[in-house]
Amino acid sequence: MTSTTAPAVALGTWAWGDSGEVGDGYFGSELTASGLREVAEQALSTGFTLWDTAAVYGMGRSETVLAQALKGYDRGDYQLSTKFTPQIAGDGDDPVADMLEQSLDRLGTDYVDLYWIHNPADVARWTPYLIPLLRSGRVKHVGVSNHNLKEIALADEILGDAGFRVEAVQNHYSVLHRSSERAGILEHCREHDVRFFSYMVLEQGALTGRYSPAHPLPEGSSRAAVYNGMLPRLRALTDRMAAIGDDRGASAADVATAWAIAKGTTPIVGVTKVGHLDGVVRARGIELTGEEIAELEALADAADVDTRGSWEHDMER
Ligand SMILES: NC(=O)c1ccc[n+]([C@@H]2O[C@H](COP(=O)([O-])OP(=O)(O)OC[C@H]3O[C@@H](n4cnc5c(N)ncnc54)[C@H](OP(=O)(O)O)[C@@H]3O)[C@@H](O)[C@H]2O)c1
Repeated sequence: MTSTTAPAVALGTWAWGDSGEVGDGYFGSELTASGLREVAEQALSTGFTLWDTAAVYGMGRSETVLAQALKGYDRGDYQLSTKFTPQIAGDGDDPVADMLEQSLDRLGTDYVDLYWIHNPADVARWTPYLIPLLRSGRVKHVGVSNHNLKEIALADEILGDAGFRVEAVQNHYSVLHRSSERAGILEHCREHDVRFFSYMVLEQGALTGRYSPAHPLPEGSSRAAVYNGMLPRLRALTDRMAAIGDDRGASAADVATAWAIAKGTTPIVGVTKVGHLDGVVRARGIELTGEEIAELEALADAADVDTRGSWEHDMER
């Protein structure tokens, strides 16, 4: 997937894995099949056609619900990105092909546009399994997620020996969490025409300005446990993002997404409501000045919070 063939923003469906779950789930969002169908319709009608999911999101539920939401649309009208997660690999001869087949089954398709190794559990062991999948056409493009520069280079070398390459990188990258930039991964991607997908640009809702100590993230959810305690320290940043947005008829969330676009990345925004698509459309149209970008980054640094996910290792190692 080169810089010219993907939309400016991809749509994430980790939260969709909570759908229909008894209890609070990871996000504590109350999502319905009809609501997500509306999200999909609005997305496709506004040109946001690339959907990111993973076998592990809700242990298959995200993929199943996504397929239902996209039902009836031509397969050529949207693109699917899903992942092999080493931690849930089976013990067959080819655990990557097995996990892909299960994803294809849930997604109701016979190929995925972009397939990821979800994390660098063992790069030398898992990367080679992508090669037959690329050759068979079951997978059109491949990428690596949560890999540091050395791990990206190793995966690229393994694929390169077979005539393929790492075509995309997907890492946590928000104004609050810029380790991939400090580690030179953004620069590497720019230099080698590798698309960098930034995930959690909204820090799971904490950067939208919609949540505060008086109106916290849903109680009992995993994201609440991570972010609710930080919300008071994020206030100056989200207030400034809201003010920058106000001048352009946009929200703090739109500015957080526009920041990631301005940095040359493709944000994956975890949309859960139909109105979020309007935000994505606005974000695509916002041009932040260099001064605004520097100001937001300084406010983010002053908040002094660490939002690295429990699944991520240190990119600057
Ligand atoms: N490769 C990896 O290891 C990895 C890790 C994490 C995420 N990802 C991918 O990246 C995607 C994005 O990350 P994420 O979903 O965890 O978090 P995110 O995009 O930072 O935040 C998503 C949350 O923000 C709110 N939201 C979304 N769009 C909004 C908008 N336009 N305006 C206001 N609020 C908005 C929603 O919360 P409410 O429902 O409360 O409104 C939603 O649940 C995931 O869905 C997944 O596809 C990949």
